[in-house]
Amino acid sequence: MSTILDGKKTSEKRLAILKEEIAGSGLRPHLATVIVGNDPASQMYVRMKHKACEQVGIGSVGVELPADASTRSVVDKVRALNRDGTIDGILVQLPMPQQVDAERVIGAIDPNKDVDGYHPENMGNLFLGRPRFSSCTPTGIMTLLAEYQIPVAGARAVIVGRSIDVGRPMAALLLNADATVTICHSKTKDLAEELKRADILVSAIGKPHFITREMVKEGAVVIDVGINQLEGKLVGDVDFEAVKDIASAITPVPGGVGPMTIATLMENTFRSAKERACDRVL
Ligand SMILES: NC(=O)c1ccc[n+]([C@@H]2O[C@H](COP(=O)([O-])OP(=O)(O)OC[C@H]3O[C@@H](n4cnc5c(N)ncnc54)[C@H](OP(=O)(O)O)[C@@H]3O)[C@@H](O)[C@H]2O)c1
Repeated sequence: MSTILDGKKTSEKRLAILKEEIAGSGLRPHLATVIVGNDPASQMYVRMKHKACEQVGIGSVGVELPADASTRSVVDKVRALNRDGTIDGILVQLPMPQQVDAERVIGAIDPNKDVDGYHPENMGNLFLGRPRFSSCTPTGIMTLLAEYQIPVAGARAVIVGRSIDVGRPMAALLLNADATVTICHSKTKDLAEELKRADILVSAIGKPHFITREMVKEGAVVIDVGINQLEGKLVGDVDFEAVKDIASAITPVPGGVGPMTIATLMENTFRSAKERACDRVL
């Protein structure tokens, strides 16, 4: 039986610590979220983020734009938040409707307020090995690995998925932590063979139960980022029931990676508030 990497418990612990740190800091950090359109999943994620803000003592502001908003109007909102001295972190909820150029919107965020870590400057710093803000989901995974004292240095890490929000920054973080990293994607030849070599396997594909027992090495640590609906239930990319006995440790879905993403966003927002407060003094 493998260790269940309990992201819910770990995130609650970290949020409780953060709440105390914020209360003792004399600061009142603020996060702004920007959502375009009315995609129910995006709305739910934004609501969860606002709820977490409330839980730890971070103020939050929600900017909502209609589904037919232009790139220009979203960029203008982001720039207004950049100028707003009360805002420490800006999060643009992705995906946005097709007519909005997400790259231009992300590029418009002040890198010092980019608590989601998607701005090219922050992504570049991450890949240079000197991260400032790095994406919340992969950073939360690194925190979870540390919480359970899973050794990363020297481990063979295999990531499936190369998105900018998960796969690529995950690779950089694992590499920065001295893992030997392979990134797989839809064009990878013999994916099962690549996966079978993994000491740490991270799946960020978005396909229910795609990772089967046969693809996992005995004793591997399995991190399931996927969030999928299957027969009315929320499931990951990994066939949890089949894999849990062969893995040494595994994240459940739900209750694994998801809560760590939100906790990291809160931590990044407080860090931004502290850094901005220091800048004001200097
Ligand atoms: N828990 C959380 O906090 C959290 C956060 C973010 C995302 N997610 C979830 O994680 C999943 C992935 O999200 P994402 O934004 O990274 O997705 P994405 O942008 O759609 O990327 C999916 C990746 O999977 C690869 N892929 C698809 N089919 C494959 C196959 N058959 N074999 C190998 N690789 C394949 C794609 O390869 P190509 O590049 O070649 O197309 C792509 O790189 C989704 O279920 C999402 O909901 C969860």
